[in-house]
Amino acid sequence: MIEGLFIVLEGVDGAGTTTHTKLLLDGLRQRGLPVHTTREPSDGPIGNMLRQILAGRVVVPGIRGPRPPSWSTMALLFAADRLDHVEAEIVPNLLDGVTVLSDRYDHSSVAYQSVTGGGDPDAVVWVKELNRHARRPDLTIVLDVPPEIAAQRRIQRGRGREIYDDEDLQVQLAKFYLDIERHFPGDRIVHVDGSRSVQEVAADVMKHVRTLRGEPV
Ligand SMILES: Nc1ncnc2c1ncn2[C@@H]1O[C@H](COP(=O)(O)OP(=O)(O)OP(=O)(O)O)[C@@H](O)[C@H]1O
Ligand SMILES: [Mg+2]
Repeated sequence: MIEGLFIVLEGVDGAGTTTHTKLLLDGLRQRGLPVHTTREPSDGPIGNMLRQILAGRVVVPGIRGPRPPSWSTMALLFAADRLDHVEAEIVPNLLDGVTVLSDRYDHSSVAYQSVTGGGDPDAVVWVKELNRHARRPDLTIVLDVPPEIAAQRRIQRGRGREIYDDEDLQVQLAKFYLDIERHFPGDRIVHVDGSRSVQEVAADVMKHVRTLRGEPV
């Protein structure tokens, strides 16, 4: 049995990773390819807890009142969720010959925990070490979107606020994502200009997947 491909979509909040994971699923299914979509935080037990933390429903007591867990606690939870996700969902599908599309992966951990880690260079090294056993994707597609456009899209989408919904943080994240490959030497990472129309972005995403599959583009 030929293993499926493991493809990740990444970018800041509102970059369009969920939109384009779904469109890529539709596009690949139309070609008859078995595909499974998933996301991080995952739908497993640790991922569900992370979603509650992100929504501000789980807090820890602090000196100045309740607050979300520290960036280092978040880094550990994200890494634990990721390894559970790989073992329980990603690898079993790949072994069944199913292509797996993940809406975010460990690039998000490196980006978000680096930026929230207050610029401590050790933070990045430590987060990468925590994720050392996370299976490498065959392809990572980073949707580059300026922070102003991502912010407008988040407002239009109208979901509740999350703990990382902060303008300054999102500006730093957008900058971090521009050359995120420097943290993943050896990975196949491509950037797509996500500020264009949904159709244009989807066509570019598909082009990169076709190249990965060795199809003519
Ligand atoms: N290329 C695009 N042009 C215009 N609007 C877009 C584009 N891509 C996505 N959108 C819209 O922007 C909003 C955010 O997109 P989406 O939910 O896919 O972002 P996301 O990256 O998954 O965000 P988050 O990381 O917060 O989940 C949605 O309303 C979506 O329809
Ligand atoms: Mg999303």
